[in-house]
Amino acid sequence: MRAQRRFRGGRLVAGMAVALPALACIAVLVAWSGIYNVAASRGHFAVVEWFLAFGMRHSVATHAVGISVPRLDDAALVQLGAAHFDRGCAECHGSPASPADPIAQQMLPPPPGLAKSGSRWTEAELFWIVRNGIKYTGMPAWPAIERADEVWAVVAFLHVMPRLGRDGYAAIARRRVAGTPTAAEGCAACHGGGDEPPRSSLVPTLHAQPSKFLATALQDFAAGRRRSGIMQPVAAGLSLEAIDGVATYYSGLARPGRRPSGVATARAANGRKLAFEGLNEKGVPPCLACHGEQALPDYPRLAGQPARYLAARLQRWQQDVPARSPGEALMAPLARRLDATEIDDVAGYFEGLAGSGSQP
Ligand code: HEC
Ligand code: HEC
Ligand code: HEC
Repeated sequence: MRAQRRFRGGRLVAGMAVALPALACIAVLVAWSGIYNVAASRGHFAVVEWFLAFGMRHSVATHAVGISVPRLDDAALVQLGAAHFDRGCAECHGSPASPADPIAQQMLPPPPGLAKSGSRWTEAELFWIVRNGIKYTGMPAWPAIERADEVWAVVAFLHVMPRLGRDGYAAIARRRVAGTPTAAEGCAACHGGGDEPPRSSLVPTLHAQPSKFLATALQDFAAGRRRSGIMQPVAAGLSLEAIDGVATYYSGLARPGRRPSGVATARAANGRKLAFEGLNEKGVPPCLACHGEQALPDYPRLAGQPARYLAARLQRWQQDVPARSPGEALMAPLARRLDATEIDDVAGYFEGLAGSGSQP
């Protein structure tokens, strides 16, 4: 009996040993013959389409296991995600204010409208898709894959988008500031302009920064020396003249007033000490040596920047990512010497210095 079963098993193995290479040969022959039509204009057979969608849905679900979701009900995240969506996603997916580009709609599979994606996918799954993209479709991965913070901003917005009408969408995603020069028109959606500050506390104020610092930062983004899936594509699209133009425009603006978030006043005293004196025992020089009004034009001013932006940038330098630009190579080792409380204190202090008259 047992011998017979072993014999049957042996036949199965032998059969497969013949069939598998034969199937592989047929597959190669079909591909080689050119019979299979790869035209995007023809669509897939229904069964192929079902199979691909089935595989994609399960792959996303499996890979999204274990992703922990931060609080997404957060106006600063939603605002930043909205402005990026309009630049980076709406051309393919469309938005409440505009249909998708007709060329993008000829992709196979076509990029779906995203109004229903919030209910089709969990937040973790949306995060996984936007961060990693989807192979063999046109869905691209996030350009700076380590910037999970930026991907969450887009996911936070995807949840809100289905509830926005045409005007609601335009108001949040396509902000314009009157009087901005042409080269800076697209920047205003995030950075403001004139006497208007950025709306999101995750976006730095460019007003009154030295133009040399602004131009260097844009060149760093364009060359990938400073990593951001939001700013790298923006900067890569600017010519050298446009970089000069926007840097001159923003550096000539007065620093706008900003209502301090409250962290500021509570912690300002400790932060002020750090700014003026540094931390001798940890080898941290006074921040103002490089960030005060009189410092070199290569360095950013910190006065009036949102505390949340400052703290987030300092915290990112603490994760052991290699510094790629000369500016980051100077700043990252100093940031690593600060602890969490020192970061909050000093960020709060600088945020409190809003308005043009109050910087040291
Ligand atoms: C070049 C075109 C293109 C761009 C740009 C693009 N996508 Fe996609 N996206 C696609 C395509 C094509 C698919 C369909 C993939 C599939 O069905 O397997 C897709 C799928 C998706 C899905 C899954 C939708 C669903 O319900 O199945 C989400 C979510 C998504 N994209 C979000 C985004 C976001 C957010 C951005 C901007 C950061 C973006 N996409 C940029 C082409 C694009
Ligand atoms: C979709 C939103 C968005 C748009 C549009 C945008 N930016 Fe930004 N920008 C950001 C964010 C977010 C950062 C912070 C990046 C980081 O995390 O390092 C930033 C950083 C910068 C910095 C570095 C400032 C600093 O203090 O370190 C410069 C310079 C800059 N942007 C210039 C521009 C210019 C010029 C344009 C228009 C041509 C523009 N940005 C358009 C969101 C945007
Ligand atoms: C030796 C000079 C030097 C000192 C001292 C210094 N920094 Fe910096 N810092 C820099 C440089 C250079 C950059 C620009 C990095 C880049 O390329 O984006 C920077 C950038 C920053 C940024 C990002 C600003 C922006 O707009 O994106 C923060 C926040 C910051 N520094 C905080 C501090 C704090 C807090 C201290 C004091 C504890 C300090 N720095 C001391 C040189 C210095």
